[in-house]
Amino acid sequence: MLEVAYKRRKLWKRCYFGEVIVVSKVVLSYSGGLDTSVCIPILRERYKYDKVITVTVDVGQPQSDLKKAETRAATLSDKHYTIDSKEEFVEQYLFPLIKANGSYEGYTLGQAIARPLIAKKVLEVADREGVSAIAHGCTGKGNDQLRFEAIFRASKYKIRAPMRELNLTRSEEIEYALEQGIDVSTTFEKPYSVDENLWSRSIEGGRLEDPACVPPEDVYKWTTAPTKAETKLQLNLDFKRGVPVSIDGRHSSGLELIRELNEVAGKRGIGRTDLMEDRILGLKAREIYEHPAATVILTAHKDLEALVLTRKERKFKELVDSAWAELAYEGLLEEPLCAALDAFINTTQERVTGSVTMLLHKGLATVRARSSPNALYSEELVSFNDKSLDQRDAEGFSKYHGFQSRAYRKFVKY
Ligand code: ARG
Repeated sequence: MLEVAYKRRKLWKRCYFGEVIVVSKVVLSYSGGLDTSVCIPILRERYKYDKVITVTVDVGQPQSDLKKAETRAATLSDKHYTIDSKEEFVEQYLFPLIKANGSYEGYTLGQAIARPLIAKKVLEVADREGVSAIAHGCTGKGNDQLRFEAIFRASKYKIRAPMRELNLTRSEEIEYALEQGIDVSTTFEKPYSVDENLWSRSIEGGRLEDPACVPPEDVYKWTTAPTKAETKLQLNLDFKRGVPVSIDGRHSSGLELIRELNEVAGKRGIGRTDLMEDRILGLKAREIYEHPAATVILTAHKDLEALVLTRKERKFKELVDSAWAELAYEGLLEEPLCAALDAFINTTQERVTGSVTMLLHKGLATVRARSSPNALYSEELVSFNDKSLDQRDAEGFSKYHGFQSRAYRKFVKY
């Protein structure tokens, strides 16, 4: 945990009689972007906090974003923490997501799944710093406010949401930022709201708010346009108990493996999604995402499940996966139902071990082959050249198959 305190600001105030008055402190979940930067002076001026402590949780966003947050915090906040949570993000959040084939309306849940972890880390700093309140920079229109507060509200701290409470428009916000000497130049250069972590990059806002607008190519950063992605790549992705462990037999940590797949699949134009999404509040939103590694891993994982799970398990697991994704989208991973779903999912994943051969080409991640020591498939049984199953046994089965449909049509003959 990197902790930087800026000494220039007073940590306490002294009144006339020399008695020490406790300073009021607030901890802010800080991305380094415009919204959360503007929150810092607002928390001092409007909410009268003496000290604003900023926390940036590293869940795999670009180094440049972390640096920018640190630099901005150095001029704006009283103390800043950068907390490296990448491994925890992979092992405690992304691995369960992979096992659950995490997808909400086609969204691979990258931003949603990171929020509870970020909120918990911010809470840890709150406890350590003895603050009286916790703040976030989310607006009142999105999902993130609900996901953060689902965690924050289980604590003793007051919750402050300046963006939501002051109901500022974008131009009012920019005006205020200029007054405060906050650099807004990049806000004009990049009119989109982008959120990035190891699992996905989301792009919203600006012209993209019109669902009829075809996104300009420059909204994409992780992926080459599929039509321009000429090179092919075939690779074997190995899974152990439902999670990816190696590429072409090279073992690597989840973090390294996801980074490598983002790189090689992104170059082949894989993992772009443009969808109409139903937010928790009910608002519909047009969302664009990039998630190359997620597409490759989830496609391979589902295919391996098809090889090793029974038909009944697969069918029931679709319901469980969909319930899991809804909880993850809502930021309700602490809900007891989630633990119950995880218990079912983990039981099924005991057998999801094996290898899937994937072809990455022109925006598509295609399964070319798969194998597993736990396969339920038997080449011998299904082959037309084998006599170990007597085909004549199927005749009795076929007499009953569709029996009720024939009865309904008053055609009761077998
Ligand atoms: N629609 C996505 C979600 O709700 C993306 C959220 C992006 N958040 C952001 N602060 N830019 O998970």
